[in-house]
Amino acid sequence: MGGQWGDEGKGKVVDLIAPSFDLVARYQGGHNAGHTVKFGEKHFALRLVPSGICRPGMLNVIGNGLVIDPRALLQEMDHLRASGVTVEDNLKVSDRAHVILPTHALLDGAREKALAGANIGTTSRGIGPCYETKANRTGLRIADLVDGDRFRALARPILEHHGALLKHFYGVEGTPVDETLETYAACGRTLARFVTDTSVFVNTRLSQGARLLCEGAQGVMLDVDHGTYPFVTSSSCASGGACTGLGIPPSCIGAVVAVMKAYATRVGSGPFPTELNDTLGERIRTRGNEFGTVTGRPRRVGWFDAVVARTSARISGIDALALTKLDVLDEVDAVQIAVAYEIDGRTVTEIPARADFYERARPVYRTFPGWKTSTFGIDVFEALPEKARSYVMALEEIVGANVALLSTGPKREQTVIRPGTALDEWLRTAAGQTA
Ligand code: GDP
Ligand code: IMO
Ligand code: MG
Repeated sequence: MGGQWGDEGKGKVVDLIAPSFDLVARYQGGHNAGHTVKFGEKHFALRLVPSGICRPGMLNVIGNGLVIDPRALLQEMDHLRASGVTVEDNLKVSDRAHVILPTHALLDGAREKALAGANIGTTSRGIGPCYETKANRTGLRIADLVDGDRFRALARPILEHHGALLKHFYGVEGTPVDETLETYAACGRTLARFVTDTSVFVNTRLSQGARLLCEGAQGVMLDVDHGTYPFVTSSSCASGGACTGLGIPPSCIGAVVAVMKAYATRVGSGPFPTELNDTLGERIRTRGNEFGTVTGRPRRVGWFDAVVARTSARISGIDALALTKLDVLDEVDAVQIAVAYEIDGRTVTEIPARADFYERARPVYRTFPGWKTSTFGIDVFEALPEKARSYVMALEEIVGANVALLSTGPKREQTVIRPGTALDEWLRTAAGQTA
């Protein structure tokens, strides 16, 4: 799971460690996610399909906790196939996942526009409105989509209702109802053979001894309960979401890998105490290529925030910390970590519930000397410059978690797996079991 505001490098980490597992499953979110997987000359930006898909023989599951725009899913599957990735019997889609309708996306956009300066900065993919219809129990699920007649009958009044809302409240045209129904019914026919009760599927495999890797989307700070509400997404991104989003009991969760960048980024609005609104922030953005995978928006950039990291650890657990993009800080003179905040003259070590209070947080920093040497592609901890090692070890101490995986570049091999850490032992055991 992501331990910050998303885009921590979950796609890279999931793809990297996937071979030690039998199944990879997404449990929440939708095509607001953009998970990058790079190896050799290949480059994938995955949206709905789990990042295990690039590993031959891996089973990939899209769980009930997701919201799916069937057009986006089919397009992604086509792109994967065109790049030589098999997407057939190795992908299962939950019959209980909810369907994003075109009007969900229109409502998302219209609401954001109406909020003007106070908008969330959503990805405009209809994620929030779809989770809303799920919660108010008028949503349509994949099981409904694959039965064309049932879908047409159930979706028509929803599309008409959304259309009226869009027209009369926001002054926006809805979608042509008949055309939309036919497009979706066709998508349902194509998707049908991938659809199953994924809770039964996953639990059956688990009972046979299979190893499951759950892939979070977004990050704990975007979790609808635990994030910087209301500047969050509409699902449960924290590790707890894996149980409801896949239909597995909590006792199935053996360990949690939190993925965090060696600094921090955020896309969209909302509090970000360590944000760098200066030329240094600009340099880090350029070097880290911090532009949204989904929307292309420049990501806001700031220092690593240990208050955020400790909050993630408390809510989601951290058995292993995967720290990414260390190389992006290679040219920085001095590196900072926020260890606390000052809010209205008081020192605070927990995130306030109210976004307006959190907006006033001023970070209390610890400063570390920059290493000013390339770490790009280094795959052994001892080969890192001493100052980079010191930064990582200080971060571990401040957060209270071990950095078990350190990423020094976007590709698989540009990674340090620290010997003797929980992740290392666990990957070795898994490799042994598979062998
Ligand atoms: P996700 O949403 O958490 O999967 O992350 P994204 O894929 O949206 O964003 C992470 C970006 O950083 C991608 O472009 C990755 O290719 C890239 N990346 C991941 N790890 C590293 C790293 O260690 N160094 C560098 N330079 N890039 C990385
Ligand atoms: P991955 O999985 C970064 C952000 C949006 C916005 C807020 C709500 O690639 O880490 P939404 O469209 O979900 O209603 O938008 O959440 N957001 C992300 N930020 N990475 C993501 O996904 C995100 N998915 C949503 O920018 O601020
Ligand atoms: Mg992303």
